[in-house]
Amino acid sequence: MDRPGHTLSAQKGREDEQELTLRPQQLDEYIGQEEIVANLRVFLQAARERNEPVDHILLSGPPGLGKTTLASLVAREMGTQLRTTSGPAIERPIDLLVLLNSLRAKDVLFIDEIHRLSKTVEEILYPVMEDLAFDRVISKGMKKGAIKHKVQPFTLVAATTRGGSLSAPLRSRFGILFHLDYYNAEALQKIVTRSAGLMGLSIDQGGAHEIACRCRGTPRIANRLLRRVRDFAQVESAPIIIQELARAALDKMGIDRAGLDRVDQRILEALIHRFDGKPVGIATLAAAVHEDASNLEEVYEPFLLANGFLLKTPRGRVAGPQAYKHLGLTIQPDLFS
Ligand code: ADE
Repeated sequence: MDRPGHTLSAQKGREDEQELTLRPQQLDEYIGQEEIVANLRVFLQAARERNEPVDHILLSGPPGLGKTTLASLVAREMGTQLRTTSGPAIERPIDLLVLLNSLRAKDVLFIDEIHRLSKTVEEILYPVMEDLAFDRVISKGMKKGAIKHKVQPFTLVAATTRGGSLSAPLRSRFGILFHLDYYNAEALQKIVTRSAGLMGLSIDQGGAHEIACRCRGTPRIANRLLRRVRDFAQVESAPIIIQELARAALDKMGIDRAGLDRVDQRILEALIHRFDGKPVGIATLAAAVHEDASNLEEVYEPFLLANGFLLKTPRGRVAGPQAYKHLGLTIQPDLFS
């Protein structure tokens, strides 16, 4: 029998694979983020016409909004190869140098979680991004010096969930900066309908709308919820996912009508009840809800902040007016004045 941990990761691996099959393969199939897609089209066309790689692109925003998808679409639209890595995977300078040496002209190098690059590795990137060159220091016996290496003209596409904490020298070397925002319900409904079609599922507009409203503005979550709602439909032998079915399934999974999951709910309850509406530091809050502080900051907080459920004050986090409203609580008159 599988060990439980193994089963869980195997399941996650399968879902990651399914997620890949749902990703748009062409820019034309991409739903939402209209302004970014329209501008990207112009930059790609202009670069193609000049027979140059497109300028380096920085994609920032919360997880699950399509940063990796956009990187792969840049490579596809340029007709080049995509090489993928991540900040934590590039442990030593040599790891980056090997990768850079393997690039062909106009390739796209995608570095996910670029904010997690070490300082030493980050500094190698500066001349590479600017002049397509890096110095390799040698010290063999008495011989010391540096050999200059050239890199093929390429495009760096970097993604970060922490746009604000990227160093200024790194940020300034990107010619194109896009910040991805949460998707609106209309776009998400289209994404759910498209995904259901690719999965061979029957869903009506009400069913797709229900998932769209409860996925925290995030396509990756929408697709995950769709897979879970499909499980309910299958076990209940429902031929089509209608709104009532989606609503009941999501309720059973503890996803509330605003799309908040159990962790979000624990955060709001801790802020309002445990800390009595008073400002709380991130470490204290993370400990109270048994979550990692960086996970809280990168995954949970952005959605709560964007929707008025949470406010950041100089003295710490507090529950926002929407949190009180959502939980049916009355706000003390002086709380937000
Ligand atoms: N699947 C996940 N994200 C998508 C998007 N933005 N457009 C179309 N399908 C998607």
